[in-house]
Amino acid sequence: SWTMKGFIDEAVGTIRRQVGEHGRVICALSGGVDSSVAALLLHRAIGPRLQCIFVDNGVLRQNERAQVEALFVDRFHVPLKTVDARQRFLDKLAGVTDPEKKRKIIGREFIAVFEEAARDVQDAEFLAQGTLYPDVIESVSYKGPSVTIKSHHNVGGLPETMKLKLVEPLRELFKDEVRALGRELGLPDEMVSRQPFPGPGLAIRVLGEVTEQRLELVRRADAIVQEEIRSAGLYKEVWQAFAVLLPVQSVGVMGDERTYESTCVLRAVTSVDGMTADWARLPFPVLERISTRITNEVRGINRVAYDISSKPPATIEWE
Ligand code: XMP
Repeated sequence: SWTMKGFIDEAVGTIRRQVGEHGRVICALSGGVDSSVAALLLHRAIGPRLQCIFVDNGVLRQNERAQVEALFVDRFHVPLKTVDARQRFLDKLAGVTDPEKKRKIIGREFIAVFEEAARDVQDAEFLAQGTLYPDVIESVSYKGPSVTIKSHHNVGGLPETMKLKLVEPLRELFKDEVRALGRELGLPDEMVSRQPFPGPGLAIRVLGEVTEQRLELVRRADAIVQEEIRSAGLYKEVWQAFAVLLPVQSVGVMGDERTYESTCVLRAVTSVDGMTADWARLPFPVLERISTRITNEVRGINRVAYDISSKPPATIEWE
């Protein structure tokens, strides 16, 4: 009968046969479940011949980079190179307000940064990806064992010149199987049950121009949302919960002073697969805490609105 332990043994064997005795593998860690599980499985199979690369693109959530480093380096001793590309992404995003342009810029820049970092890895022949079964069947751009990554994964397709062979140890699995596999490999529950986070990150949650200051506002508001949803015990019930910063200022009052500051929207939805979604009926006390904390703790936001639209016709993200 099929067991997770049996799957791991088999997958480890398959990876070793594909990669051989000496082959080295590069893996792009995103901080999400799929790439994390793929990396740990690879590490189980080939140990230090795995080189993970994590790109800090400047549109990550609070502490995300530190969490990835703590988990992979300190806890699992996985070889990991972090590339600080924050300024590079910010420069490219300057003045851009169109959502699809933001996505394209981030996808393109990721490839450039990743390619440079990968070039420094001596003798790498393989590229590992956390492609799941639904990605394989859904993706029209999927071209088999060459280097192609479907565009909604925001990697856009790495250049053919990289000449890396793909290793896709999760390509027969569904999401819930990947989560179970992650647990079996020792990934902590916070990682295994993480809510989806889009590749273009906070850039598509800052409506209008993405600046360091505006990113910082949404990042701090988002951190409060994460904390309060978790401490209310709602993290797993809700598909996604996050803050969106609007390009809208409104009048407020603080002490004797009139303020004119940014508006943030709280978005929380329930969903089965992200294709359709309903706005989450969050308890009023939770809404109240989130609103009070954001307006008290994040200077620059004086108003919090709650999004009560479902998908369709709205989407989960605002961009
Ligand atoms: P929408 O906003 O289309 O989102 O209802 C559906 C799901 O997809 C995620 N999403 C993205 N994920 N790159 C990603 O990796 C993207 O460009 C992107 N856009 C949306 C969104 O967070 C939700 O889970």
